Amino acid sequence: MTDYLVPEEPYYRGVGDEIAMYEAAYEIRMPMMLKGPTGCGKTRFVEHMAWKLGKPLITVACNEDMTASDLLGRFLLDANGTRWQDGPLTLAARFGAICYLDEVVEARQDTTVAIHPLTDNRRILPLERKGEVVKAHPDFQLVVSYNPGYQSVMKDLKQSTKQRFGALDFDYPTHDIEVEIVSHESGVDAETASKLVQIAERARNLKGHGLDEGLSTRMLVYAGSLIAKGIEPLKACRVALVRPITDDVDMRDALDAAVTTYF
Ligand SMILES: Nc1ncnc2c1ncn2[C@@H]1O[C@H](COP(=O)(O)OP(=O)(O)OP(=O)(O)O)[C@@H](O)[C@H]1O
Ligand SMILES: [Mg+2]
Repeated sequence: MTDYLVPEEPYYRGVGDEIAMYEAAYEIRMPMMLKGPTGCGKTRFVEHMAWKLGKPLITVACNEDMTASDLLGRFLLDANGTRWQDGPLTLAARFGAICYLDEVVEARQDTTVAIHPLTDNRRILPLERKGEVVKAHPDFQLVVSYNPGYQSVMKDLKQSTKQRFGALDFDYPTHDIEVEIVSHESGVDAETASKLVQIAERARNLKGHGLDEGLSTRMLVYAGSLIAKGIEPLKACRVALVRPITDDVDMRDALDAAVTTYF
């Protein structure tokens, strides 16, 4: 498990009471759900909290091809016959890690249902194939993330899944905090970071008016990092902010124009 400890403090700038709330949730081992748009700090937050609590962190990126066995484990063939190998969720439950299932709605429902006995007061994980019931370690906690913007009726979590979790809302930070984050992460000065954030704020107003998703803090960090490496700001913004977010020529030109008003 020491392999999964977070060695150094991951920089996380708190934006509200989420750190205190998470600590309280961990105290009672409440499963947690982190909701919010892409690139707004959910993964960084979990890494920071695992470090703060001194617990190992096992992260699983969920996708629609994922089966319950990918989470729970499977028998493998080797020279001596078959050998059971724990999946990441089983490993976390057995040895007391925080298990972070990223984009959990992407997983098929039969996979999500596998977490049910772990996320109610039973705190057990039945491994049917192996004929074992793992009792979760006292330190074990399950955390999932999801982006409510992407949900379709087909791909929503069941209420019986949702109601097993406490939830924290994440969003893009307020102006001054985002400037601080972008500047810290990319190395640009506050003045440049502030311009980037202002561009993002303008683009975020276009969400639902031609843009599907807001411009994320992650993108601003990329743009800032390019600028810090000596790339001309206009070009950095085109590559890191505008081109990735839209394929529409008119929208692209509008965003490019917004960039030129700042740089
Ligand atoms: N509050 C914050 N403190 C520190 N860094 C932040 C914060 N919010 C965002 N960031 C920066 O934004 C980047 C993206 O954040 P992160 O990877 O945590 O996003 P996410 O919400 O997990 O996105 P996704 O849903 O796409 O996985 C981080 O690498 C970090 O540089
Ligand atoms: Mg993430």
